[in-house]
Amino acid sequence: MFLRSTYPKNDSRFSGLILILRPRKRDPVGCATVEDSMTGVAWSDRYVTGIKAIDKDHHSLFELLASLVEHRKARSGPSAVAATLHALEVYAAEHFEREERFMLSAHFPGFETHRRAHDEFRTLVQALARQYRREPASIDLDKVSQFLAHWIGSHILVEDMAYVPYLNGTVSAEVDDTDTPPMPIEIVLRVPPGKHEVIKRFAALMRDGGEVADTLENTLNALEHHREQVLDHRVRALFGT
Ligand SMILES: [Fe+2]
Repeated sequence: MFLRSTYPKNDSRFSGLILILRPRKRDPVGCATVEDSMTGVAWSDRYVTGIKAIDKDHHSLFELLASLVEHRKARSGPSAVAATLHALEVYAAEHFEREERFMLSAHFPGFETHRRAHDEFRTLVQALARQYRREPASIDLDKVSQFLAHWIGSHILVEDMAYVPYLNGTVSAEVDDTDTPPMPIEIVLRVPPGKHEVIKRFAALMRDGGEVADTLENTLNALEHHREQVLDHRVRALFGT
């Protein structure tokens, strides 16, 4: 046994958080292994994309998954499980953002479909973590581990592997193909610290389109129109003849 962090190694965001005792697992072929017989998923070379930052992230996701499985086996208390679910929520969101930046810069044509898969997973894990915090006994951790293992494993093998040739330059994207929808534009905004979450949520709603986005856009236009009218009125009051 050795002392090991529940969180991804060398990641300062998780420093000082809970530590658990966990047996070291040996890999017979010498590559890093995180495995669990219940989930049937082990980190192995078949998950290697060859893109260093992505592989590091994926390995950390497997580590978090393994921590969750061990919490279940060890019947850890709700606070330890909740902390691991929170770490998974944060880490997956940051990893997806990184992948999405890479895909955009490589003009990967499957970007929108891939981003939607990320969004679905992000939203589901957020809801899972929230429900677990509210009522830990209502969540079956076996089902959670199996779902996560299946999702992460198959997502890497199918969806992530599809962008690899574009990211490593083996395939070049058709940047100016008029038949394909334009790639989203990345923007950088400086926002007040307390507002960044709500602005991100607003941006996500606008990006996804549909009825909610249309209503928001119409409301925004109406508010701007009203503000212009107020300013016009003030100008006339101050400077009118
Ligand atoms: Fe992905």
